[in-house]
Amino acid sequence: MMPKIEIMPSILAADVGNLESAIHLCQESGADQIHVDVMDGVFVPNISMGPAVVAMANRVTDLPLDVHLMLIRPQQHIEAFAKAGADALIIHIEADCDVKDTLKKIRDLGCRSGITLNPPTSVESIFECLDDGLVDEVLVMSVNPGFGGQSYIADTESKVTEIRRRYPEILISIDGGIDLETVKSAAAHGANLFVAGTGLFKAPEMKTAIARMRANAEAAYGTQL
Ligand code: DX5
Ligand code: ZN
Repeated sequence: MMPKIEIMPSILAADVGNLESAIHLCQESGADQIHVDVMDGVFVPNISMGPAVVAMANRVTDLPLDVHLMLIRPQQHIEAFAKAGADALIIHIEADCDVKDTLKKIRDLGCRSGITLNPPTSVESIFECLDDGLVDEVLVMSVNPGFGGQSYIADTESKVTEIRRRYPEILISIDGGIDLETVKSAAAHGANLFVAGTGLFKAPEMKTAIARMRANAEAAYGTQL
């Protein structure tokens, strides 16, 4: 059975001076969730948004907030993001923390727990957390994190397939370089949640782009599993 396909615009690609209206636009355009990219300037070279932006997003939309923590020490910040209204907190397997303990704490804070891995990181590195049942969402990075607007790395799709085969029920999101074409291939390999920044915010009309992205993903889902 096909899992629910969801489209998650990344507000990293929005005009930072108009984030509130960007979130309204996502909701009006049929987005399923909002993806918020949090960067500390250490884990990745860039610095982006913090809990205040999550709190603002929580005030202006009812959509779930999928919060991607590109932080070297996520354990120090999960409580602040949970209090700000995050629905999912996704940490990197490469972070400098007790990953299992942090995943447990994320659930204790009432959030969906997520793990993500960079393109060079092996898929096996996350299996222990998944086998222990600590993960609700696996986010496969299809670019090296830090910046929007990069090209999709198709090699990462084999990880999606392997995760989908081993864990048929888990949520698998894919993040980086997703557009109306790459979404087909990501879905074919078993991803069901699609993060897209540039691909949606730079489209002529977000509503049409989301509808097409969803239709393309639904048509292609699982065809390369
Ligand atoms: C990259 C971020 C992505 C980014 C995706 O570090 O994790 O969520 O916003 O942007 P696009 O869709 O432009 O590749
Ligand atoms: Zn992200």
